[in-house]
Amino acid sequence: MNKDFLDLAQWSRDELESLLTLATELKAAPEKFSQILAGKSLAMIFKKSSTRTRVSFEVGMFQLGGQAVFMSSAHTQVGRGEPLEDTARVLSRYVDGIMIRTFEHSEVVTLARHATVPVINGLTDFLHPCQVLTDIFTIKERLGLALSDLSGFKVAYIGDGNNMANSWINAALRFGLDLRIACPPGYEPDTTLLERVNQQADNGGQVAVVRDPLEAAKGAAVLNTDVWASMGQEDEAVERRRVFAGYQINEELLQIAGQKPLVLHCLPAHRGEEITASVFERYQDLIFTQAENRLHVQKALLVMLLKKEEKS
Ligand code: CP
Ligand code: NVA
Repeated sequence: MNKDFLDLAQWSRDELESLLTLATELKAAPEKFSQILAGKSLAMIFKKSSTRTRVSFEVGMFQLGGQAVFMSSAHTQVGRGEPLEDTARVLSRYVDGIMIRTFEHSEVVTLARHATVPVINGLTDFLHPCQVLTDIFTIKERLGLALSDLSGFKVAYIGDGNNMANSWINAALRFGLDLRIACPPGYEPDTTLLERVNQQADNGGQVAVVRDPLEAAKGAAVLNTDVWASMGQEDEAVERRRVFAGYQINEELLQIAGQKPLVLHCLPAHRGEEITASVFERYQDLIFTQAENRLHVQKALLVMLLKKEEKS
């Protein structure tokens, strides 16, 4: 198993399946794991805002018997230009794992290369693997599916070809999903990832990038979206509202989707933009269960990474 969790593609399907199975056990009987990471610490570096990621990792470490140390870039030397190489080596002498949320994906890679403890990607401009792994867990849980049932499973992603779309492409490859992404021209997911789909087409995963949200949604079992302007793109918000108009989960899309489709949103949501208020409220139970599941899935991730560290 990889020392780190930076990218779904770094872990094999079997490893991810073990993680999801452990997450189910952790959700069902959290008390059984209440001391499994006793004495362990997780440093959490944030260069961007967060509600779910921060709280779920922090509470998750506490519920496993360990602790989390919140490091805002605004209040640590990270924000004053101390090289990540040095931060990695210092933190490795204090803590048992590092979670980081930042802009450039290369920073996460640098941190992991210089840290001797596991590093977890809590979101970069490129990927958000903890979220999409949780989304897969939520789909399986809600529909009572095995991982093997996801082969050919139709997922529509409506909106920006951003970190969420990129991570869904990795999930499509790992789990054999039939993923259709609807986005405007110029806002496609990462080209290298799309090329990887063509190279690995034999594993069953398929990804199509289309322009028409209706085409993506047709027959889909899951409709999924994310904000039109991600963190760091605030200056583009007005232009993006114009470009993305129509890239919205609404009644029309629900009508054309498969029977009883699921609607997922990683949150935060902008009602009236990527999803209508009425669709959001109809699916609020599922969407907030999805948010809750970040806790259970990341606890499984922490156990797998930090316990492994103890044995080595
Ligand atoms: N979905 C998600 O990662 O939420 P936060 O930005 O609040 O962490
Ligand atoms: N694409 C969004 C995801 C937030 C969880 C962002 O990066 O801001």
